[in-house]
Amino acid sequence: MKNLNELLSLKGKRAVITGAASGIGRATALRFVEAGAEVHLIDVDIEGLESLKGKIESEFEVKVHIHRIDLSKNEEIEGFWKSAPPIDILVNNAGIYRFKSILEMDESFYRENMTVNLDSVFFMTRHFIEQTGKRHGIIVNVSSIEAFLPFARNLIHYDMAKVGVVALTRAIAKEFGRRIRANVVVPGGIKTESVRRMRRRAILKMELDKIWTVLIRHSGRSCQGCTLSLQRNGILYKRCHNPG
Ligand SMILES: NC(=O)c1ccc[n+]([C@@H]2O[C@H](COP(=O)([O-])OP(=O)(O)OC[C@H]3O[C@@H](n4cnc5c(N)ncnc54)[C@H](O)[C@@H]3O)[C@@H](O)[C@H]2O)c1
Repeated sequence: MKNLNELLSLKGKRAVITGAASGIGRATALRFVEAGAEVHLIDVDIEGLESLKGKIESEFEVKVHIHRIDLSKNEEIEGFWKSAPPIDILVNNAGIYRFKSILEMDESFYRENMTVNLDSVFFMTRHFIEQTGKRHGIIVNVSSIEAFLPFARNLIHYDMAKVGVVALTRAIAKEFGRRIRANVVVPGGIKTESVRRMRRRAILKMELDKIWTVLIRHSGRSCQGCTLSLQRNGILYKRCHNPG
C-alpha cells in the first residue's frame, strides 16, 4: 500500500475528526497526519486522545490538538466552534452502536442514539458551513451499510440515524455544492476494538488503514453527494446521486 502522501498532500489543511480516540476515527487521524494535515481530534475518551496525540507527535511533524467533547451535548459542540481556527475538512465519524430491541428500549436510550449518531452530525455540519463562510470546505460523514442493508438484529434505531446521515450529506451537497464538497462513507463490517469487544463473528474483516487510501483513490474533486461503501478487501462501491 502506498503512503498517503504519495497520493495527495494535505499540507496547510486543517481537519476536524470526531470519534478519533479509537477505531475508524483513529485510523483516519493517522492517515490525515501522514498526508500532512493539522488535526483537531474530538472524542469523549480523553485517554484515547492523549495516547493518539503522543503517537502522532512522536512520528509526524504536524500540529495535533485534542478536545474532550461530548457530542451529545450541544453546548460543548458550540464551545468548540467558538474558539476553533478556520477549518478546511470536517470528518463526522463518532458514533455509537448499542444493540437493543425496539420493544425494550426506553426513550432515553433512543434519544442518546439519535443525539450522537445523527443530531451531532447535523450541528457539527451547520457550524462548519457557518464558519467556512465563502471559503471552500470538505465534509466526510460516516454512515453505515446498515442504512441500506440491515443485517443485524436490534439496531433499528441505529439504522434510522445512519440513513439520516446519508440524507443530510446529499442535501448539503445539493444546497451548498458550489463551495462545500460533501460525501458519505458507508463502511461494511470493520473489525475495530468496539466491534471486537462485541465478538460478532458475522462482521467482515478489513484493514483499517486501507480505508482512506481506497477512499481517496476512488473519490476526487468530481465526487459530490456520493455514497462510498467500503467492502471486504478494501474494494469500494460508489454510487453518485448527482445533486444537479
Ligand atoms: N466498525 C464497524 O464495523 C462500522 C460499520 C459501519 C459503520 N461504522 C461507523 O463508523 C464510525 C466509527 O466506528 P468505530 O467502529 O470506529 O467505533 P469506535 O467505538 O471504535 O469509535 C467511535 C468513537 O466515537 C467516540 N464517541 C462515542 N460517543 C461519543 C460522544 N458522545 N462524543 C464524542 N465522542 C464519542 C467513542 O469514544 C469512540 O472513540 C461510527 O459512526 C460507526 O457507526 C462502523
